[in-house]
Amino acid sequence: MNNFEFYCPTRVFFGRDQQKHVGEIIKGYGFKKVLLHYGGGSIKKIGLYDEVVKSLNDAEIDFVELGGAQPNPILGLVKKGIEICRKENVELVLAVGGGSAIDSGKAIALGAVNDCDPWLFFAKKKEPERALPVGTILTLSATGSETSTSTVITNEELKLKRGFNSELNRPLFSILNPELTFTVSPYQTACGIVDIMMHTAERYLTLKGEAEVTDRIAEAVLKSTIQAGRAALKNPEDYEARATLMWAGSLSHNGLTGLGRDYFMVSHQIEHEISGMFEEVAHGAGLAVVFPAWMKYAYKYNIPRFCQYAVRVWNCEMDYANPENTAIAGIEATESFFKEIGMPTTLGELNITEDSIEEMAEKCTNYGERILPGYIEYGKKEIIDILRLCL
Ligand code: NZQ
Ligand code: ZN
Repeated sequence: MNNFEFYCPTRVFFGRDQQKHVGEIIKGYGFKKVLLHYGGGSIKKIGLYDEVVKSLNDAEIDFVELGGAQPNPILGLVKKGIEICRKENVELVLAVGGGSAIDSGKAIALGAVNDCDPWLFFAKKKEPERALPVGTILTLSATGSETSTSTVITNEELKLKRGFNSELNRPLFSILNPELTFTVSPYQTACGIVDIMMHTAERYLTLKGEAEVTDRIAEAVLKSTIQAGRAALKNPEDYEARATLMWAGSLSHNGLTGLGRDYFMVSHQIEHEISGMFEEVAHGAGLAVVFPAWMKYAYKYNIPRFCQYAVRVWNCEMDYANPENTAIAGIEATESFFKEIGMPTTLGELNITEDSIEEMAEKCTNYGERILPGYIEYGKKEIIDILRLCL
């Protein structure tokens, strides 16, 4: 097991009705002025907006609001949020929604208290010194942003989507009520299932580092997500299934599933170029296309690891005479599960043609400035090869 440091201080309030206490929770921390930030309106449709407003009013928390965070959230709205926070002396950003509203809220929290263009953080040109605290109420199990150190923003002018990781991004608290996800569409539910699995599997199919307990945690997250995913798609109001997905999502990306190992999330990096250039593509759907292709490309560099994944996660039989068969069976099981839950597995299904591949690969290497680490080094050529396997 490699050396590691683990600190995940987000306070989680899990379960039914927890959102009704958001005002008291904020008051408990001593904050008096909040930016209520959300997406395109689903929180109003499901009655959550009214509950949050009532709770804030009951606790005498003053708030200003900014809706409109779109899926694959953009820098323009982040800048608007920053202006509001500065003008209104906001003390905490309360992001209510899926990963997009939360990421947008995190970026606003960074920009509000650092006097520079917030894109510099995402472009890795500057490190922020501080951030406003962020609280979240999650409505979609997927990204793990509710406990993660990441925020992912698209610069709509450059058509570049970039993540920025920092402990400053870790939410102060997150409210997780599985009932708030009952209304998530089957497609978005499936995207979420893929994303949770990928945060875990990308760390699991790792470069190096023996960490048996981390493996077992990852396998539990993967297996319970597969099982609960099927159940939630069959019955969207299955509380236990929704609860499993929600908690699995929060554990999948808070660092726990990668402890003690070296890992780098290659498929995630490639996917960000897809949903960065094509804003209509949901992150999970892009991953469902890229990850099987990456597996087909990479398995031969670590067959034992892929066999372990196949056997322990998908119950494939170990072919001791020819382990490669087992590794391939695990890849096929992954791809067929994605198809079963209604996910695309080719770029064509996302209406993306071969013409865009070169540009995506160039962007992914920052126009030749970076090479992605892994079993091998991924430069432009390797990324193009993987994207070709997605056709
Ligand atoms: O915008 P609203 O109206 O809220 O509708 C959303 C949106 O249309 C809808 N939705 C959310 N909760 C709902 C609901 N509809 C009905 N009932 C509910 N309860 O679902 C749609 C998708 O929402 P979005 O927030 O975009 O989805 P997701 O949570 O998958 O977030 C995706 C974004 O997060 C980034 C992705 O790249 C993408 O930009 N990621 C963030 C990470 C992080 N911060 O740690 C890690 C991930 O790997 C990922 O990159
Ligand atoms: Zn993801």
